[in-house]
Amino acid sequence: MINNKSIKKQSWKPGNVLWPLPVVMVSCGGTKQFKPNIITIAWVGTICSSPPMLSISVRPERYSYEIINTTGEFVVNIPSLREAKAVDWCGVVSGRDKDKFKEMNLTPAPALKTKCPIILECPINIECIVKKTLKLGTHTMFISEIIAVQVSDELLDKKGKFHFEKNGMISFANGQYFTLGKNIGHLGYTVRKNNKIRR
Ligand SMILES: Cc1cc2nc3c(=O)[nH]c(=O)nc-3n(C[C@H](O)[C@H](O)[C@H](O)COP(=O)(O)O)c2cc1C
Repeated sequence: MINNKSIKKQSWKPGNVLWPLPVVMVSCGGTKQFKPNIITIAWVGTICSSPPMLSISVRPERYSYEIINTTGEFVVNIPSLREAKAVDWCGVVSGRDKDKFKEMNLTPAPALKTKCPIILECPINIECIVKKTLKLGTHTMFISEIIAVQVSDELLDKKGKFHFEKNGMISFANGQYFTLGKNIGHLGYTVRKNNKIRR
């Protein structure tokens, strides 16, 4: 039992402390004008169930901003632990100077619906088209519809259930990367009989 009186709070200046966050590799380009590129993004979020939509927020000075703003499409690739090095590197180097697919040994594979390629090695690939562009401040938000999804076979069991834990997933908080922890229960476990939290 927690002693409530022992909990003390500090006041911080308002900032982006919505931690932890998923960290993703967004692929873009793959047209005559732009070769395929990858940008690491942590400002990503689910924003609507139907139609399925997500947003990414990108600084206009990024090379990928120019690409996505011109082509109106991108793919959100969810990395596993295997891609941890590429996640960081693609987030500190610009596609203006380097071919990130080549340097990180990643494969640009055809997407189902977008011209822009998926990153084959990433276990989940979410193809998006931009619906609205919102200038916010430092970042511009691309409000986008999900038009196709691919999931790697290697993470599915015989019943088609997805096992995040198999290759490990990465999250991001306070400038640090973390792996996903243990599964501690399923949605609604608190109201089902005989379902205790797993420790
Ligand atoms: C963990 C991490 C998260 C990042 N998240 C974002 C983000 O949400 N938006 C953004 O504009 N840049 C973000 N960046 C920075 C870009 O990934 C970085 O500037 C990249 O080199 C841009 O590549 P480009 O010039 O090829 O587009 C992030 C970097 C890292 C390492």
